[in-house]
Amino acid sequence: MQVVIVDTPAEAGRLAALKISHLVRHRPDAVLGLATGSSPLAIYAELTREVVDNGLDCSRVRAFALDEYVGLPPGHPESYRAVLDRDVVAPLRMDPSNVHVPDGAAADLAKACADYEARIAEIGPVDLQILGIGANGHIGFNEPTSSFASRTRIKTLAPKTRADNARFFEIPDQVPMHCLTQGLGTILDATTLVLVAQGEAKADAVARMVEGPVSSVCPGSALQLHRDANVFVDEAAASRLTLADYYRYTFAHRPDWQRFEDF
Ligand code: GLP
Repeated sequence: MQVVIVDTPAEAGRLAALKISHLVRHRPDAVLGLATGSSPLAIYAELTREVVDNGLDCSRVRAFALDEYVGLPPGHPESYRAVLDRDVVAPLRMDPSNVHVPDGAAADLAKACADYEARIAEIGPVDLQILGIGANGHIGFNEPTSSFASRTRIKTLAPKTRADNARFFEIPDQVPMHCLTQGLGTILDATTLVLVAQGEAKADAVARMVEGPVSSVCPGSALQLHRDANVFVDEAAASRLTLADYYRYTFAHRPDWQRFEDF
């Protein structure tokens, strides 16, 4: 796992975005995994700048969302489909028909999950999966004790996650109880993982993800099993990492072939 500690959330987003724009420039029809939430917003802002100022072409990029709420009416502004359309697809000038989101409004949710996995198998693998991490260690909506072998399925949101996401809704009770999420096994199939985390509230989850035991109690620790997991954190989110100085040292002395930020 590569852990990169930077001064500000914007810098974490900038470095993560560089990795993504480098991929898209070399493979214009790359398959991206998209995350929602606050964490990746700096990535999307930086990629938008690349599109507008430097001609990055995302029109052929294919994408799969990590997750979706169950039970929100189609078009609800806080459905992840709507959030991604607003925050990612439109600003990056992507083709909406290339962007896939689990169907949380489907009558048959189990079939919607199976269909989603089949679509990923058909179009994928995902070249680069963008991730945030929840304060309880979840990635996607894989709450604690999610199986490392799990595939896209319905999950019940943890009370902590519902409380954290209440800020996006008028009243806390409006946060759905259930979701569809790619499984940890699905996520681990992506060729490259890029996780961003900012702020003190994520420090404990980041420490458990990077340095804790590999355990389903902290779903993010699944990244320890991946061959190309990259974690970009600001100082606050890194504040409980025991080996922080070592990560700074290895990043400062990384070999030339790892210098993605020079591209
Ligand atoms: C959300 C999403 C995750 C996200 C996480 C952290 O509910 N399902 O994909 O990474 O929780 O959210 P945030 O980045 O807003 O802190």
